[in-house]
Amino acid sequence: MKDDGRVIQVGTKDLLPENAKQTVLHMMGQHDLRYGEIFKTHILGYPCIMLASPEAARFVLLTKASLFKPTYPKSKERLIGAAALFYQQGPCHSRLRKLVQASLSLDKIQRLIPKIEAIVTSALHSWSGGRVVHTFHELKKLTFEVAILVIFGNLNCKCKEKLKENYYILDRGYNSFPTKIPGTKYYKSALARQRLGCLIKEIVRERLSTKRLSAKNLLDCLLSFREESGKMLTDDHVVDNVIGVLFAAQDTTASLFTWVLKYITDKDKLLEAIKEEQKNIHEFNDQGLRPLTWAQTRSTPVTNKVILETLRMASIISFTYREATEDVIYDGQLA
Ligand code: HEM
Repeated sequence: MKDDGRVIQVGTKDLLPENAKQTVLHMMGQHDLRYGEIFKTHILGYPCIMLASPEAARFVLLTKASLFKPTYPKSKERLIGAAALFYQQGPCHSRLRKLVQASLSLDKIQRLIPKIEAIVTSALHSWSGGRVVHTFHELKKLTFEVAILVIFGNLNCKCKEKLKENYYILDRGYNSFPTKIPGTKYYKSALARQRLGCLIKEIVRERLSTKRLSAKNLLDCLLSFREESGKMLTDDHVVDNVIGVLFAAQDTTASLFTWVLKYITDKDKLLEAIKEEQKNIHEFNDQGLRPLTWAQTRSTPVTNKVILETLRMASIISFTYREATEDVIYDGQLA
């Protein structure tokens, strides 16, 4: 597998439960039935090698992981930004990862529980009234709101609306065919990415001018970061990592809760047990007049087990991408 820009896509359909397997098979079309578990193809216009066996996945992700680096098709990388955590390696990756992890640490999330509860309550109200809602779409809106809170902390409504408007356009381009033709999804998405970059840089300028960085949100953590030499992250690094975390957080979480809803509505007993747990807390909190606490979120064993089991069953990320950093021989073949 040469380092000629070819991307390796690793799917693990044989390790997956039936529903996730169907998704991967659907995404792969009938390809693997016709060509086997390893074949060359193109994704978003880029040459790539698809691996779909557990052995191959283990080889790329575990035993020979050092020969590969995480990647995404170039068109997606251009939209997210090359300085995002996903594309870094070595010490730079470790530093950035620590920084991102610290801003998402338990103590920071704990403090946000009442605000997250308010976002969820508002979403629930907006779904009432008997209209049909598209679960995944609505959950994406919800996870976007939470991600914005975690990333930026408090943000004025106008700013949040502009971020939302442009991020939604950007999001539609991630899996669109890359083209510079005006009017296409990818073209619109690339323009929205530019506007988002400017918007985030404006927020950065404002934060730095007030000199009150709280270290309670990702943006402030990124802005407070100093290398040993005292160098700060550039504005572009900050923008790429903000967009990178939005990208990593939104679909994954929305997809998880879409599956949770599917599973619990399929199983009446489970749904009743979860309702019971949640109702008890709601009543204890004076019908929601008092905010949810972190301890309460830890005191719902059925709900938490359902989330964990859904993560196992649904296999939210059914495939991932790697790029070979040198020629690699797999199964006696140099591909
Ligand atoms: C159910 C929810 C989620 C699932 C299943 C999930 C799964 C994953 C997986 C499998 C990877 C590794 C991808 C690879 O190696 O190719 C990853 C990476 C990452 N995820 Fe998540 N994720 C979830 C939610 C989130 C959230 C909420 C955030 C941020 C708020 C986040 C931030 C990241 C970041 C920054 C990386 C890159 C890490 C690195 O390069 O070191 N993820 N996620």
